Amino acid sequence: MSTAVLLTGASGYLGGSLLVHLLHKFDLESRNVKLFTLVRKPEHVGKVQELGGDVTPLVGDVQDAEGIKKLIVDNSISVVIETVDARQFAVAKPCVEALAIVKEKLDVPVHFIHTSGAKMFSSHVGVDQSAFLNDDDNVYDTIAKVDARHPVMKQFVGLNNQIIDFAESKDVRAYIVAPPMVYGPGRGFGNKISIQNVALVRVARALGQLYQVDKTDTIWALMHIDDQAALYATLLSGILRLEAPYGKNGFYFSENGTFGWRALSLAVINALRKRNGLDGIQELPVASEQDMIAMGQVLQCNVGMIPVSIAGNCLIRGNNARKLGWVPQHGVDHLMSNVDDEVAFIVKEDTTFSGSKLS
Ligand SMILES: NC(=O)c1ccc[n+]([C@@H]2O[C@H](COP(=O)([O-])OP(=O)(O)OC[C@H]3O[C@@H](n4cnc5c(N)ncnc54)[C@H](OP(=O)(O)O)[C@@H]3O)[C@@H](O)[C@H]2O)c1
Repeated sequence: MSTAVLLTGASGYLGGSLLVHLLHKFDLESRNVKLFTLVRKPEHVGKVQELGGDVTPLVGDVQDAEGIKKLIVDNSISVVIETVDARQFAVAKPCVEALAIVKEKLDVPVHFIHTSGAKMFSSHVGVDQSAFLNDDDNVYDTIAKVDARHPVMKQFVGLNNQIIDFAESKDVRAYIVAPPMVYGPGRGFGNKISIQNVALVRVARALGQLYQVDKTDTIWALMHIDDQAALYATLLSGILRLEAPYGKNGFYFSENGTFGWRALSLAVINALRKRNGLDGIQELPVASEQDMIAMGQVLQCNVGMIPVSIAGNCLIRGNNARKLGWVPQHGVDHLMSNVDDEVAFIVKEDTTFSGSKLS
């Protein structure tokens, strides 16, 4: 019997890149996988079909809980890979409930992969940053004890454990994938750019400057989009073999080293200065209160969210995917030596944003 897999977020940066990877690098046929993908907009059905490969697009909205449940149950889907929303239990819940129904119907193990984010394991939620947090070392218990300082993060920090508990109560195997600062050109038909590096480029373009946001030189985990797609694929392969740890042991941090926010910010501003015929700068100014307000206006968030977007410490180690055979190819040297190309790609793709100071 084939395994029916549903990937959500086909038009997104993570989901779109993963879809292309699964269609062209995963060998669905030999693994006996029937692949479905969720799109929200009917016009994206044709875009999925244009990718070639054996995938069935389904149209649905993850906010429509009953509609999503019906799609999963009607198509006897036993693996859901969720890449739409890192922050809402309301998105995970109907998927898990529907998988439980499929389990009853088919009497096979069923699996829910939730895409979270490395922020949920960072200084922003109060995780101790004096040592690396290993994804195979009681992350569930560590997170259960943290006390998030930032009010927005406080609201979200418990979500991964909540999903694990709920899935366990329904006999559904849950896996939490936590991407950090993901970079590199997206491979899908829709959004091709990421989040945190894009925020740096937007601020730099709008204000003509980037700043030291943190008092100390903070570091964050990094991940190239191709390695990120490969991690999901390795996890899916481990799931199909029923070898992938799940539930309280099912955390998958995708990281391949760390970068310094100041070094990356300096490289981004200098890449933009070079594009605009200006000399490079040697050091970033310390952000004043006014600079923080201006950054908030660019990023359309309150000042308190700026460090959460483009600063902070995130020291995580992803051992679980490596144990399943994942071998990431891109590290900090690749990130830092490709900043000019990365900035040029973001400027080209970020069409809704127009910078006033640097282009
Ligand atoms: N990119 C990163 O570096 C990163 C790192 C850590 C965590 N994450 C998290 O991972 C998730 C995906 O990130 P991303 O960068 O891939 O985002 P993205 O490019 O904005 O993609 C989001 C996807 O979700 C779809 N979507 C949104 N609302 C939907 C709805 N109500 N029903 C069905 N589909 C819906 C979008 O479809 P439409 O095209 O129809 O809008 C799109 O395909 C987010 O929660 C993000 O916070 C991302």
